Amino acid sequence: MLDWRHGWILSMGSLKTLFVCLVVFTVFSLAFIMTALRNNSMARIFKHNDKGIYKLLHLKHSTIGNKENTNISAPVTSSLNVSSIHSNDSLWCRKKILKGLDYVVIYNAVPKTGSRTISSVARVLFNHHKRKGRSLFIPYTLYRDEPRLRLYYKKNSAGSTLMRGHSLYTPMLDRKYVYINMIRDPVERYISHLYYSWYGDSNNMNKKNETKKNNIDNCVKEGRCIPTGYLPFFCGFHPNCSNATDRWALEKSVTNLDNYLFVGLTEKMDDTIMVLQQLMPDLFKGLFREYKRKAASLKKSYSTIVKQPPSNKTIAKLKENMVLTYEFYDIVKERFSELKECLMQRNTRDQRVYPG
Ligand SMILES: *[C@@H]1O[C@H](CO)[C@@H](O)[C@H](O)[C@H]1NC(C)=O
Ligand SMILES: *[C@@H]1O[C@H](CO)[C@@H](O)[C@H](O)[C@H]1NC(C)=O
Ligand SMILES: *[C@@H]1O[C@H](CO)[C@@H](O)[C@H](O)[C@H]1NC(C)=O
Ligand SMILES: *[C@@H]1O[C@H](CO)[C@@H](O)[C@H](O)[C@H]1NC(C)=O
Ligand SMILES: *[C@@H]1O[C@H](CO)[C@@H](O)[C@H](O)[C@H]1NC(C)=O
Ligand SMILES: *[C@@H]1O[C@H](CO)[C@@H](O)[C@H](O)[C@H]1NC(C)=O
Ligand SMILES: *[C@@H]1O[C@H](CO)[C@@H](O)[C@H](O)[C@H]1NC(C)=O
Repeated sequence: MLDWRHGWILSMGSLKTLFVCLVVFTVFSLAFIMTALRNNSMARIFKHNDKGIYKLLHLKHSTIGNKENTNISAPVTSSLNVSSIHSNDSLWCRKKILKGLDYVVIYNAVPKTGSRTISSVARVLFNHHKRKGRSLFIPYTLYRDEPRLRLYYKKNSAGSTLMRGHSLYTPMLDRKYVYINMIRDPVERYISHLYYSWYGDSNNMNKKNETKKNNIDNCVKEGRCIPTGYLPFFCGFHPNCSNATDRWALEKSVTNLDNYLFVGLTEKMDDTIMVLQQLMPDLFKGLFREYKRKAASLKKSYSTIVKQPPSNKTIAKLKENMVLTYEFYDIVKERFSELKECLMQRNTRDQRVYPG
């Protein structure tokens, strides 16, 4: 009798435990399912067609639809007054240098230009030095329009932050926002992006089960691969920004360049990292050293796996479709080289060693 009651009480206890377990299990399962669903929908949005990112950009425009987001007469912002910088001063770049830590660096990265390298080095640095700094990924699938992106920037700009994501240029009216970016030879970037979207990279990002039949020459020949360049990343959300033949998009992109601290070059990764460190010496102290320490392994894990060199005919055809992007690329190259020259002169003048 006693044993029976005792057993019964015990099983009431077990039932309660079981109930609690069930609740915990349900909560965790739900969280897991939600995450999986979210990842799945992300994966769907991230899915590239032969045209790579351009599908994504079109998706943006077709799903937003509210044209009032694209007020092109809205004032452009700047952390720096460029017109006052470019004076008759060979050390004009000194005025670009941003001391202190309290900045929000917005890196609206062009895909396949090496942005993961910069951000992963910066993240290590932020953690390593226990510096007041955060590295955030801008979830661009969720913030496909200017007002929401702007809100995201504002909400996440506590202390010093590096935000990286493949988002379009969105002006912020506050000096603490600092824009940086990087570009690369348009044809090379396009091809890299294409192969990445077909086969992923050695980091297993975006890994697909593609048959290896896809190659750039066939794709261009069959008219499946028509690049439109990367001007929208600098031009912004205005629908005309994604028109690869609209000169206005180029002009707007060049105007917006003035709001960037600088735009580096994938082909000159060492210089780019060095320039970044010198322009923001407190926030990115030690960046170059950290980058050098990790460069080889980063390159290995972020490089795209399959690459067949395109024929000269393919290259010519691709260039034809990206005339304005090439103009932009040339302007950026020239400006970057001027900036680097100036910084080197400054180092010599100030009796400093170009840190290495
Ligand atoms: C666009 O921005 C300008 C400058 O801020 C403002 O005067 C104008 O009202 C804005 N137009 C719209 C449609 O929001
Ligand atoms: C930028 O600097 C120039 C020259 O110093 C000045 O005339 C102009 O008003 C400044 N612009 C802004 C937006 O601060
Ligand atoms: C720049 O400075 C040099 C020498 O100081 C001077 O000769 C030249 O006229 C200046 N140019 C401008 C555009 O102010
Ligand atoms: C890739 O596809 C082939 C043919 O459809 C299939 O046999 C193979 O198992 C797939 N591999 C993976 C990793 O899904
Ligand atoms: C955008 O493109 C359309 C079509 O080419 C043109 O009518 C319109 O004027 C353009 N807008 C701007 C701001 O360039
Ligand atoms: C793109 O821009 C060109 C040149 O301004 C224009 O002729 C063309 O109609 C535009 N295309 C679209 C789809 O707006
Ligand atoms: C392709 O172009 C490069 C440089 O323009 C040249 O050196 C090479 O011989 C060309 N290849 C072919 C197959 O025509």
